[in-house]
Formats: sequence, structure tokens, C-alpha cells
Amino acid sequence: MRIAFCCTGTAPEPWLQGLSSALPGAEVQVWAPGAPQADFAVVWAPPQAFIDDQPGLKALFNIGAGVDALLKLRLPPGLPVVRLDDAGMSVQMAEYVCHAAIRHFREFDVYEAESAQGQWSFHKPRARADFPVGVMGLGVLGARVAQALRTFEFPVNGWSRTPKNMAGALEGVRGFAGANGFHDFLAESRILVNLLPLTADTQNILDRNALQRLQPGGYVINVARGAHLVDDDLLALLASGHLAGATLDVFRTEPLPAEHPFWGHPAITITPHTSARTLRDESIAQIARKIAAFANGQPLAQLSGVVDVSLGY
Ligand code: NAP
Ligand code: GLV
Repeated sequence: MRIAFCCTGTAPEPWLQGLSSALPGAEVQVWAPGAPQADFAVVWAPPQAFIDDQPGLKALFNIGAGVDALLKLRLPPGLPVVRLDDAGMSVQMAEYVCHAAIRHFREFDVYEAESAQGQWSFHKPRARADFPVGVMGLGVLGARVAQALRTFEFPVNGWSRTPKNMAGALEGVRGFAGANGFHDFLAESRILVNLLPLTADTQNILDRNALQRLQPGGYVINVARGAHLVDDDLLALLASGHLAGATLDVFRTEPLPAEHPFWGHPAITITPHTSARTLRDESIAQIARKIAAFANGQPLAQLSGVVDVSLGY
């Protein structure tokens, strides 16, 4: 079996070694134009030239959860695309979002600023009931985040495309679904967490119309994709005081350009697309397991993380 590796911005050697030892007998090589035809590909934001050069692929394995960059390419119809299914990301996302929500709710940002000035000041405790958190997307990452927020006893609302059974992992989360449930979901939320995939339906979803429906003093945590958020609408609602702040991990242009008004904004906390990193060992183990199962004839539908290309996630 031949595996092509084509991951923009990723040092290939440890991946080649890891995949080779997890799949003995497989020939794993970095793709270069004109390379021999591979059976499978391990990819992150590959160029169109790679897809065009490898018409014999049986499946693409994406080394991230989001497939928006991949699905912008012209892919052969019916070519299966498999994304990472957790692979150690959901716990990182839960840490990040709980940290951001609690930092805002408990005013740790304010205490940090005051302590830097040598100020010993005490703020009146705030009621958790006044800070309901809305989680957009209840998939692999969103469900884990909603569950983690519940352990801190925040009221949690969850919004997904299709209705969910709010038992089990989503116990205690109030469910909303579809376009019809969106405005009610927003109106019931004050802290908003975005964990949607970037698709034709979700691009620019965090615009003025949506954000102004949050409860006054709203707080935005965007950990999905920069193109979900209309930057100027966020800035306008921060300026008007309707929103209290934002923690942003993802941006329309990454790295965030030096002149962007988010930099230095007192109410915006920025991190460099680091909320849930691809963990190499976990990802290699997951991808190798799936390639082996697929190559041994297991139907693709039985594997987790198979993307519905028509839906975009
Ligand atoms: P997932 O398992 O596919 O979950 C996606 C969720 O979004 C599902 O609950 C889905 O609803 C919902 N959804 C999709 N389209 C919707 C729509 N139009 N309206 C309402 N809900 C909609 O994805 P995941 O693994 O949780 O990952 C989510 C995203 O996180 C990725 O696509 C990626 O962009 C982002 N991400 C960011 C980082 C980072 O470091 N910043 C790391 C990893 C992932 P249904 O359940 O009804 O299908
Ligand atoms: C990272 O953003 C991912 O989609 O895995």
C-alpha cells in the first residue's frame, strides 16, 4: 500500500516515521509532483495540484477536525474524506473554553489588571445563573465543551443542525436546533461559544443580527473558524457596550495582520489558533487504524469521522 503525505505547514519526518511503524509494509512518502500514485493520502490544506496529480486515491485523511480548506478544492466525486474524530482535541477544547468562560465570569482579567497596578480590590461575586453559556455545534468538540461547562454548574444551551437527545453526555444541557431554534438559543445565552464547522450555511453566522440577540453584557468565544465572525459587527457591539468582550482563537486571516483592530483591543483576548492542537501520536494511531480497517474491507460508513461532503462537515 502506498500513502502520500501532503500537509502544508507540517514537518513531515515524524509523521512519516509514525505512519510507517503503525502500518508495517506501507510505503509512506511526502508528495511531490509526478510521484507514484498512492492509495491513501494524509493531508492538511493540500494544493489543488496534489488532488489533480493523484486520481487513484481511495480516501483522504485530514489531520484536523475542520475540512473547510480541503473542501474548497475540486475533489473527484465520491472520493471519501475522513477527518480527525477527537484524537485528543476535545479535552483541549474543554480546557480552553472553560478557562475563557471562567476567566470572564470570575473577572480574573480584571483582577490581573488590578494586581499589576498593586491594587487590592474586591468585586461583588456574580451569579452563575446570570451567565448562561450557549454552545454552537454539539458535535465531537461542542458536546465535550458543553459537558465540561456543566461540571462548573453554568446553565448551558446547545445548538445543532439536527435535534439531539439531551440525555447521557448532554444531560442538563438545554437543546435548540435548526434555523428555527437559533434566535431563541441566542436570547437564552450570554456567553457564546462557537464550535460549528465552516460551511456555506455557517459562514458569517456571528454577525450583528445574531450577536445583538445575546443577553446584555454578552461574551463571545470563537474557537471554530475566523470566517464565522463578522469582525466589524463584533467591534461595533463592543463599542456600544452590548457585548462585554471576546476571546478569539481563529481569524479570517492567520496570522492576524499587525494592523488588525483586534490587536490591543482592551476587551479582546487573542490566541494564535491554538485552542485544540492536532496531537501527532494520537492522530497517527487513529488514521492508521482507519486505513488498515478500510484496506481490509471494512465499509467506510462504519468508520467515525467520515465527512458528508454535501453538508460540508
Ligand atoms: P462535528 O463533530 O462535525 O460537529 C459539528 C456540529 O455543528 C454538529 O453538532 C452539527 O450539527 C453542527 N452544525 C453543523 N452545521 C450546522 C448548522 N448549519 N446549524 C447548526 N448546527 C450546525 O465537528 P467537531 O469535531 O466538533 O469540530 C467543530 C469545528 O471546530 C471544526 O469544524 C473546526 O472548524 C473547529 N476546530 C477548531 C480548532 C481550533 O484549534 N481552533 C480545533 C479543532 C476544530 P448536527 O449534530 O446536527 O450534525
Ligand atoms: C483545527 O483548526 C482543526 O480543524 O483541527
